[in-house]
Amino acid sequence: MKKINIGMLGCGTVGTGVARILIKNKDLISSRTGAILNLKRIADIDITTDRGIRFDDGVMTSDVYKVVDDPDIDIILEMIGGETIAKDLTLRAINNGKHVVTANKALLAGQGNFIFRAAEEKGVDLAFEASVGGCMPIIKTLRESLAGNRIESMTGILNGTCNYILSKITDDGSTFKVALLEAQKRGYAEADPTLDIEGFDTAHKLTLLTSLAYGVEINLDDIYIEGISKILPIDIEFAGQFGYRIKLLAISKNRGDAVEARVHPTMITFDNILSNVNDTLNAITVSAEATGDILLYGHGAGMMPTASSVISDTVDIARNILSGSTGRIPLLSYQMKNIRKIPVMPIDEIFTHYYIRFFALDKPGVLSRISGILGKYEISIKSVHQKGRKVNGSVPLVMLTHQAREADITKALEEINSLDVVSDRPALIRIEDENSQD
Ligand code: HSE
Repeated sequence: MKKINIGMLGCGTVGTGVARILIKNKDLISSRTGAILNLKRIADIDITTDRGIRFDDGVMTSDVYKVVDDPDIDIILEMIGGETIAKDLTLRAINNGKHVVTANKALLAGQGNFIFRAAEEKGVDLAFEASVGGCMPIIKTLRESLAGNRIESMTGILNGTCNYILSKITDDGSTFKVALLEAQKRGYAEADPTLDIEGFDTAHKLTLLTSLAYGVEINLDDIYIEGISKILPIDIEFAGQFGYRIKLLAISKNRGDAVEARVHPTMITFDNILSNVNDTLNAITVSAEATGDILLYGHGAGMMPTASSVISDTVDIARNILSGSTGRIPLLSYQMKNIRKIPVMPIDEIFTHYYIRFFALDKPGVLSRISGILGKYEISIKSVHQKGRKVNGSVPLVMLTHQAREADITKALEEINSLDVVSDRPALIRIEDENSQD
């Protein structure tokens, strides 16, 4: 049976999982692929730690060039992460004519336009299923399964760390800090957890999915990104009282000549299927013309689920090598020449429902001053609730709005914030409510 040599760069959490599967399931994978996938060499700065795997002599090396420059290696698995060394080595591997599998969402979202073109020009495959949603086959779904469909929208929970934190605060009354520490201990959070909690990791993933779904080139910088660090327990509690859960959502909509692509905490109804996606799990719904809604659900991070996607990509590439069909599936789902550059709609232009929470003085006239300002900006109030007890002389005042334009909400809140009867900045959380008629 033909042997296809694999070189791996980085043997941390995911890399270790990949090595385990390739070794343990060697026969199973060969019988499905029609070739032996031989893990020829692995480079890591740490070649002494016991990873619970017995490698043959010479497999582990601390010299990355023994991997990327080895003429016998066909496929490089880039498992380093980050945007510096990983980028140089990925480009070097491509220039050496090697196919690349990567889980590096930050690199592809930030510099993918350049890297994908390099791979296309060199005629090599570049696969990245593991970069979004761990084991969920969302890239394959967009690139292959929905090839005949116009994709309308996607809504996803794509960061396990944030989902874990929000779930723990909502269901167990945990604090933000404790929940984040636990997510870090479980190996879910990025090395810099700011990437998780401020929404950047989700935005990296959304950039990739938006490009693939609609055949567009967009810039990460154009995506509106708001993380979960400013969500207060009081708002999670109020959300529950109104029948909502708060999730960090990645939202992408096909608007024809523009796209909506945004990441922010969002209130969704209890009967929204994503409401029941908790802890570190991820899920995404894709709405497409012929299919209607499709739901993918699974572990979005972690050693073995992520490794499973890396292996899936490796098998795809090996099959392409065997059948001489490298490049059969366009890297970005569309033929490169058909990829359009179109704008991402500014957040100011979106229309949605809002939850607004003020801390306001409990005295006559306060409500009418606030609602007067909202009315001035054409914001129609759906309901008003004075909730809870006085804290430092102020009471929480919650308003739910009908659909409004974000730019109007922003201006209204600026004006309301300057009122002497309002203490602290108001909290604003967008609501996605499919049941709402307005
Ligand atoms: N830090 C990411 C998460 C890892 O929490 O989901 C998977 O991309």
